[in-house]
Formats: sequence, structure tokens, C-alpha cells
Amino acid sequence: MFAEDGAFSTAIPGYRPRQSQRDMACAVAGAIEANGSLIVEAGTGTGKTYAYLVPAMLWGGKVIVSTGTKNLQDQLFLRDIPAVRKALNVPVTVALLKGRSNYVCHYHLERASQNGRLASRQDAANLREINRFLKTTRSGDKAELSSVPENAPVWQLVTSTRDNCLGSDCAYYKDCFVMQARKEAQQADVVVVNHHLFFADVMLKDTGMAELLPAANTIIFDEAHQLPDTATLFFGQTLSTNQILELARDTVAEGLSQARDAADWAAVAAPVERAARDLRLVFRQDGARLSVTQIEADADMGRQFGETLEALRSALSDFAAVLETQAERAETIEQCHRRAVAICTQLEAWIAPDKAPAEAESVRWVEVFSSAVQLHLTPLSIAGIFSKQRAGVPRAWVFTSATLSVKGNFTHYAAQLGLDREASMTLPSPFDYGRQGLLYVPRDLPQPQSPQFTDAVVDAALPLIEASGGRAFLLCTTLRAVERAADRLRDEFESRGWEMPLLVQGQASRTELLDRFRELGNAVLVGSQSFWEGVDVRGDALSLVIIDKLPFAPPDDPVLAARMEVLQKKGLSPFAVHQLPHAIIALKQGAGRLIRSESDRGVLMICDVRLVEKAYGKQIWQSLPPFRRSRERTTAVEFLRRVRHASKAGEAGSATPSSDTLSEAVGE
Ligand SMILES: Nc1ncnc2c1ncn2[C@@H]1O[C@H](COP(=O)(O)OP(=O)(O)OP(=O)(O)O)[C@@H](O)[C@H]1O
Ligand code: SF4
Ligand SMILES: [Mg+2]
Repeated sequence: MFAEDGAFSTAIPGYRPRQSQRDMACAVAGAIEANGSLIVEAGTGTGKTYAYLVPAMLWGGKVIVSTGTKNLQDQLFLRDIPAVRKALNVPVTVALLKGRSNYVCHYHLERASQNGRLASRQDAANLREINRFLKTTRSGDKAELSSVPENAPVWQLVTSTRDNCLGSDCAYYKDCFVMQARKEAQQADVVVVNHHLFFADVMLKDTGMAELLPAANTIIFDEAHQLPDTATLFFGQTLSTNQILELARDTVAEGLSQARDAADWAAVAAPVERAARDLRLVFRQDGARLSVTQIEADADMGRQFGETLEALRSALSDFAAVLETQAERAETIEQCHRRAVAICTQLEAWIAPDKAPAEAESVRWVEVFSSAVQLHLTPLSIAGIFSKQRAGVPRAWVFTSATLSVKGNFTHYAAQLGLDREASMTLPSPFDYGRQGLLYVPRDLPQPQSPQFTDAVVDAALPLIEASGGRAFLLCTTLRAVERAADRLRDEFESRGWEMPLLVQGQASRTELLDRFRELGNAVLVGSQSFWEGVDVRGDALSLVIIDKLPFAPPDDPVLAARMEVLQKKGLSPFAVHQLPHAIIALKQGAGRLIRSESDRGVLMICDVRLVEKAYGKQIWQSLPPFRRSRERTTAVEFLRRVRHASKAGEAGSATPSSDTLSEAVGE
């Protein structure tokens, strides 16, 4: 398949044999044969997708491929798998499975259309679109209906949740898109899911999904560096006041329509609603994330919080008792009763976690939104839980990504997931970073904590942006920095009369911004963390990646704080064992945007002086691809000028520039 004259050489345009890709394919085949586990790291753009798809589609039996995002899921399903299937010429059936909130629900769509309580005219128009869509779609996947934005509020009314799905009692069960997608997944040879779905549904077995995991012979995680965080999210528990308010609303609606005489439903629900709202009012600021320890440290807030929680618990339990007496009146009321009991149990476990059977040490924390509060119970380590879930059935597990190790060492990653780090390998990148890229750390920048920091970053970046003629990403670690940098750049471009388009995160969807960036060819894009990963801009549209700060997780994160405390108690350095490796992996992802093919060239500018001034800085830059390094602005500017010049020459039809021209540019 991978040989010079193999099937890919004719099936894939521009195909070149790559040793790393071949080695990875052999390693994956070995893991499949031995029902073993494999952790494999290979640089961005190596061609990991084909490397795992070929052995998986030939010998993997029933395969689950899990990716980081829905976009990557679509890309695999629509592009990569069909290409490999065609080249292999094997009759492999494939299914795409997303979370239930992606599929239109017949039952809820009908209800929303009938009761007509819509907030806006736009909602009504969207609802009509969705009703029309229902008649033509086969999958019911909302991604197919581009005329209604993905985040339109109306989607919430016409999709189901695990809580409000009627399951086999539903009149539409036979036509249901969710059930249909799951059935297809159960029958297919290869199922494409994402990590959120994998942990929420496949592993933790949402109803109806119970057969998928046990039947799988091979499980492949792409973008596997995201797994520890995603798994942590799902092995923990979250209860939101919105969930409680929704239950109250549904109960009133069902009570009035199915058992009007049985109770004054509004009065039954009122104490629960009040208590849920009171809980939000305990907290003054939006967007706060507070551990219980932090809440209790403030005597006033701690007392209020305790009292309100208790009031909520008691209101919910009275509420559940009333529902129990009416449960026989209708299936929908019975369902509200089940939800009330489940929420009660969860709340009790949260209030007194010591009494609940906990699998692992966990941290309780609260996230405050503008009109809701979420109570989280997060395990500090998921290694034990994940190992237990993996035990039992013999099957192959493959974990792959461009960024799993710290300098070839997988200890941190393997420990997080409870994997055996012996079964791991790093494959060299096919790219020549020493020639293709330059790492530039400017001199004379303030410390990253300084209030002038973002302005200094912009000042330092401007000469490089000019030299490269736009074609730059500015990746910031905070949203505030994104705004500040974007404002400054807008002003500077205007006053200097530069014609470079500025694209800022939030102006449009991620996919749309990237499409525009690729098309424009001289744009500057300012974004935060969501642009650090999975973004693929090949060729000349991107020649400069600027990163403001080393991406250390904010120290006030309650889960991180609790984890660090545990490490400290064990006598370990939380910084060395946890924060630093985490930051290195994040930075490698950000840096990986720059060089995406054998002919890409560019500058990676990191504006954090800790990279050179701190003792740990060396460990960080040594983990990055082996770029040339410089602290001289003139060197970076000259490098970019040459790149730009060479790419213009390339456009004009002359031969690609010799690498000598480029290495000359970096000769200091
Ligand atoms: N041997 C090859 N020669 C030329 N092109 C290839 C080869 N293998 C894969 N490609 C193409 O290169 C592109 C990148 O491959 P792929 O997405 O698998 O990279 P990756 O290793 O997963 O990188 P990333 O970490 O960025 O996701 C794809 O468009 C693919 O078609
Ligand atoms: S089974 Fe559930 S998701 Fe499917 S149509 Fe009925 S309520 Fe909606
Ligand atoms: Mg990939």
C-alpha cells in the first residue's frame, strides 16, 4: 500500500512514500494482531490518518475511530475513509455517530411547532426551515442544514436530551434519527465518533449504546492528547441549575396536559424554581470557578451556600414525592419523576460526597454563569477508572497524536490514563525544520504578567507581520489579550495604511474564519486556544505564527489546584509533574500550525521571555520541533522577506527556491 509503486501512489495525488508513516502502519498492525495497546506520536502532517486506517480497515474487525472534534469526524467520514477504502478496494461499511443533540428529534420538533411559544421571529423562521429539512434529510444531522446557524437557540427546542427522550415509548421511535444512527453504528465495520461522545455514550453506556463498545475489536483515538481532559469531564458529574429549572418547566407542562386536576402544578414547581434561582444569587460574579474550599473560606458566602443547597435539596425531595403520586397518570409524568429522583440523588452525593461510593478521590467545585450555576464533582485522577473500563475484553487500543510526549518521554501521558508507557513510540517528522522554520524569541519584552505585555507583543510583531505581508496567526492565551491585540492591530494597520485583512475570533465560526484566511492569502488572524489545535493551513497563506505566552493553565482553576495539592502531599513538584508537561503539549500544538508540508516555511515567534530566562525554558524549547533559533529581529524579518520573495517567485512559475537561499537567510 505505502510503497513507491503501491496502491496509494496512484490513488492519492502528490503521494510520497514516508518512512514514519509506514512504520506507524506496521506498529498499528502489530497492536491489532496482539490485541495490545499502542501510544504513537508522529509530527503534524506525517499522514497518521492513513497509517492507522489501512491496518484497521484490513484487519481491525469492528473498529471505533474517535477524533477530537465534529469537524475532524466529518473530514474522516467524508474524505479520508472513502479514499482509503477505494485504494484498498475492500467492502468495509462505515457509520458516523454524533451526540444526540446533533440530530433533529421528531417528537420535540412537533411539540415546538404546535405550542408556538417562540422567543423571536427568527426562531419561527428557523423552525419552518427545520420542518422543511425533516422531509428531505436522511440522517437528521443538523450539520446538513447550514441555513440555520449551529448555535441558533431553536435547536434546543427541536433536539432531545438523555433526560427528555421518550425512548422506546416514543411514537416516532421507528423513524428516530438518533436511534437510526445508533443502529447503523452497531452494524458498521468502522464507526467514527468523537471523544465527547465516546466517553459520554459509548463508555458510560447511555441507553441503547450498550452493544457498541463490547463488540469493538479495535479502538483508535486520534488527537489523543485531548483524552485526559475529556475523560475527566465525563468520569466526573455535573449538575446544573438549568437542568433543575428545565425539569420544573417540563413538569408543569406535562402536569397541565396529563393530570390537570391532580395538583396545582405551578405551585408544586415554584419552591424548586425559587431554590434553584437562590443558589445562583449566592454568587456575585459571572464566570467564576470556585472550589468548595474557596467558597467556605468566605464565611458569609459559605454559610449562604450551605443553607441554599439544603433548601434546594429539600424542595426537590418534596417535589419528587408529589410526582411519585401522579406517576401512573402518564408516561411523561413518570419520566419527570425519574428525573427528579436522579437529580435528588446527584445533589445528595454532591452535598455529602463521603457517603457516596466514590471510585476515586475527587474535587467539588462550582462554576457560575450569568443565569445558572453548575455543581461539579471531578475525579482527580482517571487512571484507575479508565483502566478498569478497558480491562476484560481483549482488543486493540491505539492512541495517536502529534503531541503526547515530553522529549520522547510518555510517562506523563501514560500515567494520566493508566496506560503502559512501554508500548509507546515517537516517529520522526518528514519535515526539515532546521531549514524550513525559525524560532524567534524577541529581546526586551516585559514579563508576561506586566500590564503592558499585550501592547509590547503587538509592537514586536508588527515588523514581522509587515515582512511576511500578513499571512500570520497571533495566538493568545486569554480572550482579553485577543481583544486587546485585535484593537491595537486594527489601529496600527489603519494608521500605517496597510491593507491586510484582520480576522478575529468570534467574528464568524471557526471554519468560516479559516476558509477566509486561506482564500485571502494576506490576512492576520487573532485567536485564542481554540485555534491552537487541529487547524490546517498548508502553504503560503500562513508563514508566521506568533504565540504571546507559554500556555500554563490558570493557577486559580479549582481542579488544577486540588490536583497540585495531592501531588505536593506525595512530595512531588506539581509544577514539574503536571503544569510544565501540560504547557509543553499545548505549545507544541500551537507551534504545529506553521509547517504542514515539505514545502512550507515560516517563523514561529514566542513572546515569553521565560522561555530563555527560566531554568525550565530549555526543557520547553527542546521539546519543540528542531527549528533554527534566533533572538535577532533582523534575522526573523530577513527570513520572512526571503520566504515571501520565494513564494512570489514560485507563483510566477519559476522553480521553487533552493533551500540554500533560505539557510542563507538564517545564517546569523
Ligand atoms: N505519504 C503521503 N504523501 C503525500 N501526502 C500524504 C501522504 N500521506 C498523507 N498525505 C496527505 O497529507 C495530509 C495530512 O495527512 P493527515 O491529516 O493524516 O496528517 P496527520 O499526521 O494526521 O497530521 P495532524 O497531526 O496535523 O493531524 C492529508 O491531506 C493526506 O491526504
Ligand atoms: S425516541 Fe427520543 S430522540 Fe427519538 S424522536 Fe422520540 S423523543 Fe426524539
Ligand atoms: Mg491528524
